[in-house]
Amino acid sequence: MTVLRDDFIWGAATAAHQVEGDNIASDFWAVEHSPARLLPEKSGSACDSFHRYREDIRLAAAGGLKAYRFSIEWARIEPADGEFSRAALLHYRDMIDACHEYGLEPIITLHHFTCPLWFALGGGIQRADAADRFAAYVRYVSEILHDVHWIVTINEPNILNLMSGMTAVIGKSAEELRAAGLASTDQRAALPAPSLELAPKLIAMHAAARAVLRQSVPDAQVGWALAAQAFTPTPGNEEVFEQVFHQWEGVYLDATAEDDFIGVQAYTSQPVDASGPVPHPDSPDNTLTGWAYRPDALGINLRRYWERCGKPLLVTENGIATADDARRIAYTTEALRGLIAAVADGADVRGYCHWSLLDNYEWGRWEPTFGLIAVDRERDFARTPKPSLAWLGRIAAENAASLEPGA
Ligand code: BGC
Repeated sequence: MTVLRDDFIWGAATAAHQVEGDNIASDFWAVEHSPARLLPEKSGSACDSFHRYREDIRLAAAGGLKAYRFSIEWARIEPADGEFSRAALLHYRDMIDACHEYGLEPIITLHHFTCPLWFALGGGIQRADAADRFAAYVRYVSEILHDVHWIVTINEPNILNLMSGMTAVIGKSAEELRAAGLASTDQRAALPAPSLELAPKLIAMHAAARAVLRQSVPDAQVGWALAAQAFTPTPGNEEVFEQVFHQWEGVYLDATAEDDFIGVQAYTSQPVDASGPVPHPDSPDNTLTGWAYRPDALGINLRRYWERCGKPLLVTENGIATADDARRIAYTTEALRGLIAAVADGADVRGYCHWSLLDNYEWGRWEPTFGLIAVDRERDFARTPKPSLAWLGRIAAENAASLEPGA
């Protein structure tokens, strides 16, 4: 017996810039190469998934997974302002075909943090025509999405909000950055809150993409995926919590009224005190991204989003940065128990995508490894599935029955 739906989706996720390699027309590539060397490491050839995607898809299927969430890279589709690449479009169509050939449901993200450099240099999401330009890209891509059932317009608009400031570093030296008061921000705990002023820009981009998709792919489930922070109020600070929640998540949740589902991405949890989110304390238990070890974050978020929106939920990311694969299995076991309990209490959860299929480029660093599969980037890009992949495949095969209470 399992409380999960018979058609519950079990998958793993990646994002183009983090695995493809040589994403040279993107803004993040330019950030990586800016003279100030703000980021400790570059993406380079990444996992070379741009060429090895069939192997990645084959391994995911062989491991027992049923879905692959990946992103289409705008910077490859439209590398120069108004110039669309037919070859890049067909590349992504072949990824969809490969998913179908191997029996995986493709879950497509249209924007995962990176923008074409030309778009970013023109002001990025703050451009007056941001929504129109994004919609034009989505319109071009929609030609290959006719048989795709799940589409995420924008990955984590609440974090993209923060990252949009990064293009200010492009071409600048360390001295110029210091003079401009720009500092390194590679740990979420240290991030400022997302700007409420930018939120409407992102919401307009999402709405414009959704409108295009409603016309061109009317049968697809369309939504966006939020970085769910599982903030919890400390006693007496419920009002501060509500403000913080609104700024980080609520404003983006409110924009899902016309969506088909909400993508939930959960990793950790932070208490909120009178001055806001409490930074993760130093602890030997912290993960390789410096975040508190909180597998309960997933359940907290699923319950909260269900209570607040009553809309179908799809876990589009959940995982842990660790070099110890047994810890990955332990974390995921607890997270899935939280998911099952939320479903037993009524939450409509349609699926679970683990982050990540591969050890990939963690936005400036390679050390935090989230993958179910290791990649030898120094030599030949050989893939080595970790025990966690087969473990998740077994959980998928039994629809997590062994994780049910009393099983
Ligand atoms: C992002 C991924 C990232 C992961 C771990 C999410 O914020 O969507 O791109 O690698 O979390 O930090």
